[in-house]
Amino acid sequence: MIRNDTTPRWFHNAVIYEIYPQSFYDSNGDGIGDLPGIIAKLDYVASLGVNAVWLNPCFDSPFQDAGYDVRDYYRVAPRYGTNDDLRNLFAEAKKRGIRVLLDLVPGHTSIQHPWFVASASRGKTPYDDYYCWTRGRRENPGNYRFVSGIAERDGFFMINYFSCQPALNYGFADPDPACPWQMPTDHPEVRKVREEMRKVMKFYLDMGCSGFRVDMARTLVRGRDPEAVRHGLCELWGDYRAWMRKNYPEAVLISEWSRPGDSISAGFDADFLLSLHEFAPAFASLYRNMVPVPERPYELRPTGPSFLSPESTGNSRSFSAAMERELAKTAGRGYLSIVSGNHDLIRLRCGKTMTEMKLAMLAIFTLPGVPTLYYGDEIGMRYVEGVGNVEGSYDRGGSRTPMQWAPGAGAGFSTADPKNFYLPLDPDPERPNVASESADPDSLLNLTRRLIALRRAHAALGGDGEYRTLESAERDAPWIFTRSLENERFLVVLNPCKTGFPRRFELPGKMKRLEAVGEVAVTSDNGSVHLEIAPHSGAVFMQI
Ligand code: NOJ
Ligand code: CA
Repeated sequence: MIRNDTTPRWFHNAVIYEIYPQSFYDSNGDGIGDLPGIIAKLDYVASLGVNAVWLNPCFDSPFQDAGYDVRDYYRVAPRYGTNDDLRNLFAEAKKRGIRVLLDLVPGHTSIQHPWFVASASRGKTPYDDYYCWTRGRRENPGNYRFVSGIAERDGFFMINYFSCQPALNYGFADPDPACPWQMPTDHPEVRKVREEMRKVMKFYLDMGCSGFRVDMARTLVRGRDPEAVRHGLCELWGDYRAWMRKNYPEAVLISEWSRPGDSISAGFDADFLLSLHEFAPAFASLYRNMVPVPERPYELRPTGPSFLSPESTGNSRSFSAAMERELAKTAGRGYLSIVSGNHDLIRLRCGKTMTEMKLAMLAIFTLPGVPTLYYGDEIGMRYVEGVGNVEGSYDRGGSRTPMQWAPGAGAGFSTADPKNFYLPLDPDPERPNVASESADPDSLLNLTRRLIALRRAHAALGGDGEYRTLESAERDAPWIFTRSLENERFLVVLNPCKTGFPRRFELPGKMKRLEAVGEVAVTSDNGSVHLEIAPHSGAVFMQI
């Protein structure tokens, strides 16, 4: 086992909860979730057993991409509250042993950000090179996405995501002589942008946040040669990380990148495993049945049944092999973050029964790394079809609907008329809710709480625990693995298949069953463990 001694201790055994601020809890009856609402629900968050919260962007914005289009990095959006509310959230969370990570959007601003407004104007300003502009409308923009025709300035500007999100200029690793507008990463103007973002981080770290989830972390440095780009990204993130370690040794950086080998080398403490790049098929094979269509941002293509679906054919090999590859690349230096979902992905519940949801939670909270739970997944909130495009959500809106706290018309989310909610509630009269599940010991919510508590209590199940596959296959098999550290060993069995399996493994000691979904019986004697695994079942055992 390689111990990680570069990441803050608290993070080794962390469990993160992602809160989408507009949809969590509305404290003032305007139909939009807010910071005082999150503070009011911190006891609930603490009851889940997580020790960190990641908050999606809560900064001033015209909300053309739900806040991922920042207009003022230093100001909380009035609809969520004030900077004092945010400071208060950090303090109240801290009292409950919870750290707050903010969402840093360093790759682009809103088109309404004063830097961009200045840089797009005709005259010369200090912000002219904060973004990537061609020097005149006849210059070659190369293979990047540019917007033309809406600025007074003579030139086109590069975008990072939507057209309203102009890319900030961190430079090019190997500027292309055919595109003289590309500046090198050490150009003094480019370095000004780097320092602006450091100032933003400093502002919130000084206020009491514990680090950042970094949006599109991989896009900051661009170029033609992938090696040069990797190098440029390592230099940039390595610089930020070294500065953070020195000045804020408890703070962490988590990337939206989905190539842990690259991101952890660049300086991140963890990287989300998402449906992106070459990891997309492995992600789909575990729990989504869908992969994105390359270069078509909102399209998904169905794949075969995923491992954790009711019609599972028992293929755990694709995901476990891909995960093991990433573990090997990052051992002792940083963590994978396996997510239950996020605000961009189809809800975990989609296509699953509550039994498969329970098996999914069993997997997420016993697999390696630092897991992230998306708000509402713990009660099995559904993906809501047909909610339309709200603030640039497109089909992502179905995964961003208001948290369901209680039975009843407004689901306890807000006192506003549900017609005026930020996004419509799940219309299903049987929609799950926190109050009912809290009262039921067999609920998904209470199982999730017990699994998180178990993970947090045992380092063998956390970020540093060794992962070893006992069985994974492409078809017709359960997925069985161990997690161990020092004297502790756990055995995990996952079988979403329609058939049952008997299995025998050589493992020392006796196995005690701690949690189960369905029936998994164990007998252990003389160094051998015998399992009787029922269909649609799973369990966690501890060696005693
Ligand atoms: C990734 C974020 O998760 C997504 O919601 C956003 O639209 C894009 N980055 C652009 O910032
Ligand atoms: Ca509100």
